Amino acid sequence: MRKNIIWILAIATSCVLGGRLRPRNYDTHDFYALHLDPTTSPSELATFLGLEHDGQLGELVDHHIFRAPKDGRDVITDAVEELKRRRRKRNALEPSILDGILFNQKQKLKPRMVKRDILYPELSDIASDHVLFPRQDAPPVDSAVVEQNQIRDALEIRDPVFQNQWHLFNTRQPGNDLNVTGVWMQGITGKNATVCIIDDGLDMDSDDLSPNYFAIGSYDFNDHVEEPKPRLSDDRHGTRCAGEVSAARNDVCGVGVAYDSKIAGVRILSAPITDADEAIAVNYEFHRNDIYSCSWGPPDDGRTMDAPGILIRRAFVNAIQKGRNNKGSIYVFAAGNGASSDDNCNFDGYTNSIYSVTVGSVSSENHHPYYSEKCSAQLIVTYSSSRVNSITTTDVGKNECTSSHGGTSAAGPLAAGVYALVLQIRPDLSWRDIQWLTVMTGVKFTDDSDWQQTGAGRFYSHQYGYGKMDAWAMVEAAKTWKSVKPQAWYHSPWIHVKHEIPQGDQGLASIFTVTEDMLREANFERLEHVTLTMNVEHTRRGDLSVELRSPTGVISHIATARKMDDKAAGYVDWTFMSVAHFGESAVGNWTVIVKDTKVNEHTGTFTDWKLRLWGECIDGANQPLFPLPNETDDDDHDATVTAPVATTSVHVPSETEHVAQPTDHPSRPVNSKPPASTTTPFEPPITTSPSPSAIPDESFLPSPFPTFGVSKRTQIWIYGALALIIVFCASLALYFWLARRKRLRNNPRGDYEFEMIDDQDDDGATRQGLTGSGGARRGKNRRAGELYDAFAGESDEELLSESESENETYRDDAPENFREKHDPHVVGSDDE
Ligand SMILES: *[C@@H]1O[C@H](CO)[C@@H](O)[C@H](O)[C@H]1NC(C)=O
Ligand SMILES: *[C@@H]1O[C@H](CO)[C@@H](O)[C@H](O)[C@H]1NC(C)=O
Ligand SMILES: *[C@@H]1O[C@H](CO)[C@@H](O)[C@H](O)[C@H]1NC(C)=O
Ligand SMILES: *[C@@H]1O[C@H](CO)[C@@H](O)[C@H](O)[C@H]1NC(C)=O
Repeated sequence: MRKNIIWILAIATSCVLGGRLRPRNYDTHDFYALHLDPTTSPSELATFLGLEHDGQLGELVDHHIFRAPKDGRDVITDAVEELKRRRRKRNALEPSILDGILFNQKQKLKPRMVKRDILYPELSDIASDHVLFPRQDAPPVDSAVVEQNQIRDALEIRDPVFQNQWHLFNTRQPGNDLNVTGVWMQGITGKNATVCIIDDGLDMDSDDLSPNYFAIGSYDFNDHVEEPKPRLSDDRHGTRCAGEVSAARNDVCGVGVAYDSKIAGVRILSAPITDADEAIAVNYEFHRNDIYSCSWGPPDDGRTMDAPGILIRRAFVNAIQKGRNNKGSIYVFAAGNGASSDDNCNFDGYTNSIYSVTVGSVSSENHHPYYSEKCSAQLIVTYSSSRVNSITTTDVGKNECTSSHGGTSAAGPLAAGVYALVLQIRPDLSWRDIQWLTVMTGVKFTDDSDWQQTGAGRFYSHQYGYGKMDAWAMVEAAKTWKSVKPQAWYHSPWIHVKHEIPQGDQGLASIFTVTEDMLREANFERLEHVTLTMNVEHTRRGDLSVELRSPTGVISHIATARKMDDKAAGYVDWTFMSVAHFGESAVGNWTVIVKDTKVNEHTGTFTDWKLRLWGECIDGANQPLFPLPNETDDDDHDATVTAPVATTSVHVPSETEHVAQPTDHPSRPVNSKPPASTTTPFEPPITTSPSPSAIPDESFLPSPFPTFGVSKRTQIWIYGALALIIVFCASLALYFWLARRKRLRNNPRGDYEFEMIDDQDDDGATRQGLTGSGGARRGKNRRAGELYDAFAGESDEELLSESESENETYRDDAPENFREKHDPHVVGSDDE
């Protein structure tokens, strides 16, 4: 009864509020997103430009949408340019209303984001076709079945397929589930929490979803109507995800993790969308939608590198600062299904954002499902589909159910559901508390990965994050969780490296030392996220990999090589992220090591990097909010470095050496180092001995080499020694060559045992400080850049344009376009 009243109220309110968003038709009109100075009146500006003011851009203060009848031009940029021209001519500076425009972007439709589901045959089809999809699941364990029935009866769950929802209670592999039923038994079922599914719609007429449907929090940004009703034949994904979270406890299909939570739907995946609309969508009703579940992203094809545009990034920051009445909206993203194409969730700007919780999959048998991506930005995994089992959930239709939902798409919503349970008892927790709770209660469940012990005393794996989510453990911890203080940050200056990257097992290391003073000045107490923005020039992006070592020796593989990624570009102001450093102190040497794993004709240069540390502040009363991101945030490449930076070649074990040992090495955490370790985090520079893994097991020698009639081991020894001698001579030659080059660059230094380039020493003035070095410094950098560009030659340009035309079906140019201006290649070729 109460529910009905709320529902009627909801409908009434949405009718009253209806038309808050003016429908946009991109066939007939152009739309502009503007950021205005707060003193500029949008309606006056609209009149001045002959445009219509469409209202504020969602929840972004001082951001507005203007519309005009469709026209090929960008009338606002044209007007601003025209003003500049007039001013130059007249040399006068009379004020203009156009000066109030801080940012202007004509909106264009971008390709749809890709849903991260994997389609499996329905259970009924499997029964009839064993050959196509052999299903070898274990039989149910009797005691578990008994327990499941008791729980079902105690909670009066009458949903017909509850028994098949193994992710909620697993009778075949007992314990391999979300461990949620003990939470329900305490009456914690998601009451008062709202999850919004941003997807391809949500069937609010489904009998399984209508009892929990939250109309006010819902909208269709594809067809520009209030209800997120699925309209296309393949608009099933959002409804399935919604069922996992909030399918009602009734006589339809199964139940959701938080079956008394409210569920909203925001439809964006069923047609191309603009950045402005996506920005509005991810902030939609952000005081009433608590958690946003997003099971989509750029293609997981192992070659895409794409991040949300500036408006969308602003919307995310806006939401974690203001959403949920300033406690911060909670974003959950599916990690991605591209593992078999070597894809990695750090190449996706949604999953590698510090503002989103990235969730991967684990199979019902506690294995890695072949599709689930790994990355240092992944926080946690939950159960999802594998070749044996998939997820049973609500489907589109009045009384429909599917047994074939899967992929990381199905993992993310389960985490969102658990967060709804947490918010029922602790609605006061912030977005960072939620991440902390996830870190502190994740469960390490297998030895089959690169687990390392972290500063927070937890185990972290790039494949499984902090392990699998345990709803019971998380809710128990939430009951007494002390909220963390506001977020502080420390950003390093750009650290210039400008050094060629060696190929093969060598890595190029650059160190930045964080001091206690730097952190104190930044009001920074305890580390949470680390982001690293970097520029690497390369002729084949997929050959590169990057690792980051913290002062205590925790290793983040922030970028991994990708066999499919042929793009003739390196990284251009790309920001990678790691969650592996939660709980560290951050003081000491941070080492970034760039590798070019493939010995081939594709080479490159590590240009520069910038370390950003995010965490808990010291003094909460004096901590401002982080400013909204800005297109010019990464433009300060010429700012100088304040701490010693050494660039040197180090031996780095290859990626495969980090990968899980077979299970006969049980509990040894690979790569873990005691947090208090004071040893240097990597082996001595220029270690050139071939790594053991480089020696193939079978035939060590190709036929033209004499074998000396000795054993394979001895041959290895002889050839190893020979190789060492050759490499030693080569290094010596390289040393002298580089030393000579350095002398040519007027560097008086020569007191090193190994090759070391200290970029600062190129410019004595840098030592003195940050400010005022502008002109001279910039000139110098440009010269160095030109030197490199001369080396790079014209072939790069060819490759660049080639790959651009190749990429027409799905472009990853929108974010790269705006970064392009920083690309030394582009600058260089323009100059020519
Ligand atoms: C970007 O930041 C700069 C300096 O912080 C500021 O002057 C500028 O107005 C900002 N731009 C926008 C669009 O907010
Ligand atoms: C699961 O929840 C129960 C309480 O229902 C708890 O006792 C147990 O420790 C949790 N974890 C596992 C792995 O069972
Ligand atoms: C739901 O939230 C409202 C307002 O935030 C609060 O007054 C109420 O007690 C909450 N109900 C439950 C069951 O937690
Ligand atoms: C940190 O790096 C500097 C070089 O940049 C080096 O001199 C120093 O010994 C390193 N400290 C530690 C603890 O490794």
